[in-house]
Amino acid sequence: MTARIVDTVYSAATDRYAKATFRRTGDSGLDLPSFSFGLWQKFGADYAYETQREIILHAFDLGITHFDNADRYGPPHRAAQINFGRVLAEDLGRYRDEIVLSTKAGNPIGESPYLKGGSRKALLGSLDHSLRDLGTDYVDIFYHHRPDASTPLEETASALVSAVEQGKALYVGVSNYQPDRAHEIAQLLRTAGVPLLIHQPRYSIYDRSIERNGLLQLAQDDGFGLIVYSPLAQGLLTGKYLEAIPDDARAVNSSFLSSANITDEYRQRTAELNKLAESRGQSLAQLALQWVLRQPTVSSALIGASSTWQLDHNVAAIDFPDLTDDELAIIDEHGVHGTGLNL
Ligand SMILES: NC(=O)c1ccc[n+]([C@@H]2O[C@H](COP(=O)([O-])OP(=O)(O)OC[C@H]3O[C@@H](n4cnc5c(N)ncnc54)[C@H](OP(=O)(O)O)[C@@H]3O)[C@@H](O)[C@H]2O)c1
Repeated sequence: MTARIVDTVYSAATDRYAKATFRRTGDSGLDLPSFSFGLWQKFGADYAYETQREIILHAFDLGITHFDNADRYGPPHRAAQINFGRVLAEDLGRYRDEIVLSTKAGNPIGESPYLKGGSRKALLGSLDHSLRDLGTDYVDIFYHHRPDASTPLEETASALVSAVEQGKALYVGVSNYQPDRAHEIAQLLRTAGVPLLIHQPRYSIYDRSIERNGLLQLAQDDGFGLIVYSPLAQGLLTGKYLEAIPDDARAVNSSFLSSANITDEYRQRTAELNKLAESRGQSLAQLALQWVLRQPTVSSALIGASSTWQLDHNVAAIDFPDLTDDELAIIDEHGVHGTGLNL
């Protein structure tokens, strides 16, 4: 790695594409890196900006060209985009055309009816605000963050189409949609000439929902890609909680994971998965990432990280041999849906 983070001027690693791998997104022409980086946790106003900057630039140096954000990420809401916008302005701006930048809207960020849902008002207002926070003229992917049954799907689809027609987004996506609604909006968008690029669901060894509800198959049939979030189940699919709960871990400092998730049953199953990973000469985190990427319709594994070490460690998952049928069977035995999660 030949990157240099100097006081003011950042130069990206010249070898950043040497090891990076890319995967096609559905039937589109867009390739995404096997690992995309999300700024949901630890990129708000409550963590040091310099650490955030170091992690973001390190990700780019590793060939992670896709950064996932949302108006909601913080705390407070919008802070993660303001921080990323600063990195873009001060360091990454000259690489903008090598970066796929995503934002999302519609997950509540306030009490106003215009700060949530799936209306044109909420989605297009949020997008304008996000563009200002990010300091960019366009995002590459604009998502409806979560379904809103109270808004006609036609209106939500038309807002996504407008974002593209106005030149504020290149592609559109949805997140957390059940397959029936995803299929419906995919049809509406196709008819409008703006095909659904991608769906962002949760998927990991401990959350098999998209295998069970048919979304994996639907993605293939409808021609959209899947970018799967929390592939490490927020860190549960690493060895970090096997003995004790580290002070700096998400289970201590986030409202989305807590010590209540670390049950005896969780530890027992995770220890078995950890043994399997060790027998392959890798870590559980690496095994868990390989496991989601074994699905051809998964375009990218959307990871988080609180250190550059985690990033280096996790992207190395790509270097290990494919999981065998016997190993997949062991993962199915111990990787029970719902383990450690509040499903
Ligand atoms: N669309 C949606 O509704 C939605 C919802 C959730 C997330 N997302 C997206 O998905 C992205 C990733 O989600 P996520 O952060 O939950 O993904 P994840 O990859 O499952 O978990 C990442 C966290 O696990 C821990 N970790 C990572 N690698 C590790 C390692 N090698 N050893 C030990 N611990 C390790 C770190 O937390 P600590 O070090 O802090 O413990 C890290 O922040 C988000 O940033 C966001 O962009 C989208």
